[in-house]
Amino acid sequence: MGDPIVIALDGTSASGKSTNAKLIAKALGYAYVDTGAMYRSLAWHCLEKGVDLDNDKAVASLCRRWKTELRDDDGHIRLYVNGYFPEKEIRTAETSAAVPAVAAVRGVRKWMKAKQRECIQFGNLVMEGRDIGTNIFPETDFKFYLDASLDERAKRRASDGVDENLAERDKRDSQRAAAPLMIALGARVIDNSKMTAQETSALIIDAVRERLEATG
Ligand code: DC
Repeated sequence: MGDPIVIALDGTSASGKSTNAKLIAKALGYAYVDTGAMYRSLAWHCLEKGVDLDNDKAVASLCRRWKTELRDDDGHIRLYVNGYFPEKEIRTAETSAAVPAVAAVRGVRKWMKAKQRECIQFGNLVMEGRDIGTNIFPETDFKFYLDASLDERAKRRASDGVDENLAERDKRDSQRAAAPLMIALGARVIDNSKMTAQETSALIIDAVRERLEATG
């Protein structure tokens, strides 16, 4: 058997990465990794420990020291913190507001890269994030970049009951110095403004299967 396959799914906020990544993982029998959840967990942990989010050194230092473990929960790879996965806590408005500062710290991104690459111990992966194709698994042949109009993305967030300034978040993710959101070389860009998740995921699954068949 060859190396595990990694499908890198990057894109803007609310472009449908999570929904599609889960559908693709299920259809192909791959494990699913939400890297945003890892950054959110660190942001939550910083808030818990009272670490000043504007102090990059303190954030990086906590990241080097926190006790974590990757676990496969029914095909979802999760980062447990002190034996606990903070599922609800990482989705609060407070954590959401804290996470861009944490995600911009170089030491944090270095730690996350190593941890995210460790995920291949669980086999083939669908990994969603912002820098998977550019930085975490640049060697993969399976790179996709999702986007949708700002209007459509705002509607999707609102229907999830979340009121968020998406333009501001995209700007912060795209303009940070460390691993900014970018379209990876060789990535297939999919604007799914007018597509359902079923249509989007089917497009990606077909593209992956075609490539796998072509390369044997
Ligand atoms: O996808 P999300 O909204 O859960 O991501 C939370 C934050 O983490 C968002 O500000 C972007 C950042 N992030 C990142 O910088 N790199 C990743 N690979 C995943 C998320």
